[in-house]
Amino acid sequence: MIETVQATEALRRQVSAWRAEGLSVGFVPTMGNLHEGHLALVRDALRQSDRVVVSIFVNPMQFGANEDLDAYPRTLAEDQLKLEAVGAHLLFHPSVEAVYPEGEAACSAVLVPESLTDILCGASRPGHFRGVATVVAKLFNMVQPDCAVFGEKDLQQLRVIERMCRDLDFPVRIIGSPTLRETDGLARSSRNAYLTESERAVAPALHQALQGVAQAVAEDRGRIDEAVASAVVDLEARGFRVDYLEVRDRLTLALPEPSADRPLAVLGAAHLGRARLIDNVAVPA
Ligand code: PAJ
Repeated sequence: MIETVQATEALRRQVSAWRAEGLSVGFVPTMGNLHEGHLALVRDALRQSDRVVVSIFVNPMQFGANEDLDAYPRTLAEDQLKLEAVGAHLLFHPSVEAVYPEGEAACSAVLVPESLTDILCGASRPGHFRGVATVVAKLFNMVQPDCAVFGEKDLQQLRVIERMCRDLDFPVRIIGSPTLRETDGLARSSRNAYLTESERAVAPALHQALQGVAQAVAEDRGRIDEAVASAVVDLEARGFRVDYLEVRDRLTLALPEPSADRPLAVLGAAHLGRARLIDNVAVPA
């Protein structure tokens, strides 16, 4: 079984021992309920470093009051087996008390990723990226990895973490890893488990809609508004409640400049039944 530690001291002891041997350390932070998407990040980390630490921590600070903190699936025993099979070296599974000794509300040195926090998922989930940036900063200080791997599925989260490391000089190399999908295109996600059978059948339409917009924009950057509007109408007709569907600069997430030849992405979030699905695709160059 994969070695699992709960205490930061035990984690630090193991990481220091590896460092003393001259080994590099990669890190994959997760909230558990691991699927192939998470395991692909672990495989990337294994390619990039000698030892890989995975964390499982359902971070209360990044959940809104009406979100699924309590319902979020917790499947430690299965996760341990998957991590063992993929070859991760250490699982860090801290308690909420270890991360927030006086409760997360009392954590006063929080990180607010100013420029990226009010758009896209930040607009519909106030405080979400404050919680993500704060916990990832804490986890980076606990693990002190050389590199950390994040999924491009959560593109805004990846950009928030890249900016945090740049702005605050965290000595951690951030690696983005491509989105892992089901064969019908639906991005793998722990929250897909909330879908009923009929919702699951409809769910790939989100990815298809993003692809459709990406194709239209690749052919004509002047057609962004029109392509987005028709995709939203189509998704709503299929039963989605669209949070946002936007074309953005893929690297900065700024709104695209009509004349600039920058890489673009189409990002979307939509509720389908109990699930809130997010996804993004690159606009072909
Ligand atoms: P979680 O949703 O568990 O995701 C952990 C990592 O797995 C993230 O980097 C996410 O982008 C990546 N991931 C999820 N689904 C993926 C898929 N289908 N393909 C590729 N990568 C995928 O994201 C979080 O946890 C938390 O916000 C966290 C960063 C751990 C901070 O609490």
